[in-house]
Amino acid sequence: MAAFGTVFMPEMALSTFNGEQWSSPEMVAADRISLHPGAHVLHYASTCFEGLKAFRHEDGSVNIFRMDANIARMIQSSRLLSLPEPTAEMLEAMIIESVQRFVDDVPAPPGSMYIRPTHIGTEPAIGKAANPSLTSMLYVLLSPVGDYFSGGIRPLRLLLEQNGSRCAAHMGMIKSGGNYASALQPILTARKAVNADQVLFCPDGDVQETGAANFLLIDGNEIITKALDSTFLHGITRNSILTLARDMGMTVSERNLSVDELLERASKPHTEAALSGTAAVLTPVGTLIENGKEYQVGSGQQGPTTEKLRAALNAVQWGKTPDKHDWLTRV
Ligand SMILES: Cc1ncc(COP(=O)(O)O)c(C=O)c1O
Repeated sequence: MAAFGTVFMPEMALSTFNGEQWSSPEMVAADRISLHPGAHVLHYASTCFEGLKAFRHEDGSVNIFRMDANIARMIQSSRLLSLPEPTAEMLEAMIIESVQRFVDDVPAPPGSMYIRPTHIGTEPAIGKAANPSLTSMLYVLLSPVGDYFSGGIRPLRLLLEQNGSRCAAHMGMIKSGGNYASALQPILTARKAVNADQVLFCPDGDVQETGAANFLLIDGNEIITKALDSTFLHGITRNSILTLARDMGMTVSERNLSVDELLERASKPHTEAALSGTAAVLTPVGTLIENGKEYQVGSGQQGPTTEKLRAALNAVQWGKTPDKHDWLTRV
C-alpha cells in the first residue's frame, strides 16, 4: 500500500469566493489549481484544512464519519484566520458530491477514503501581511487509505517537550498549515536525537498534544486528557473516544495534566497512554522520554482499554454496531 495520503482521486469539488460570493461548486481535475504567485496563502499562510473519512459497510453503503463536526471546525478555522466563511450547506454538498463521484473507490475496512477539504486565501496581494485575503478557494481532495496498523501494533515513543510549543497559543485550535510548519523542527530533532516517533508538546509542564494527534492517559477506569482551550486542536476522534468511554461507564477527566503527574501515573503497571486522531485512530504509547530518561508507560505494550476503545470506535465507523450518536452520514 502506498504511503498515507499519496494517492488521490482524479477529480475534486472546487468553489471560489470572489470577494462577494461563492461560485457554484464544480468537479474539476484534482492534479492542479491555478494560483497567482503573489497569492495571500503563499506568503501569509492563510490556509486551513480538515481530515475526515468515509467507510464502506458490509451492506455496500458508504458512510462519512462525523462530517458535521469536521465542517463546524473548518468554518471555525476559516473565521479565526479571517478567510471568507463557507456555509455548512455548501461544504456538506461538496464533500458528499466528491465521495459520491468515487463511491466505488472507497476501500473496505480497515481501509477508508480520507477526505481533505482545503481552504486557501488567493488574493494576489503581497502587501497584506496584516490584512486578510478578500478572495479564496475551497476544494475537497480524496485519498484512499489502507490499514494504519498493517505492520502490527507498535507502541509509540514520545519525547516530552517542555520548553517549546507546537504553535502560538492562540492558534492551536485552528487546523492551519502554519502550525504544522512550526512543529516540524522539534519533531525532526526528536526523531534524530532519541528515535522518538512524535513529540508530546508540554509547554511549561502542561501536557498538551503531539504534532498531529491528541494525547489520552488511561489509569484504570479513568481517562485523563487536557480540557479544551485555544492552545490545541479539538480532535473529533478525541471527542468520539471520550463519548464511547462514558458510554462504557468510564470516568472522563478533562483537566490539566502536568508532566510530573503523567510520569508518576505512567509508572504504574496498568496505566495506558494513547494518541487519538483521524489517521492514527487510537495508537498506543509505550515510552515517554523526558530529559534524557526513558519511562515505560504501564507494560510498555498496547493495553486492553486502548484496544477496547479503538474496537468500539471502529465498530461504529465500520457499521458493526448501532450508530447511536448519529455520527454517520450515508452518501
Ligand atoms: C495537531 C492535531 N491534533 C489532533 C488531531 C486529531 O484530530 P481529529 O481527531 O479531529 O483527527 C490532529 C488531526 O489531524 C492534529 O493534526
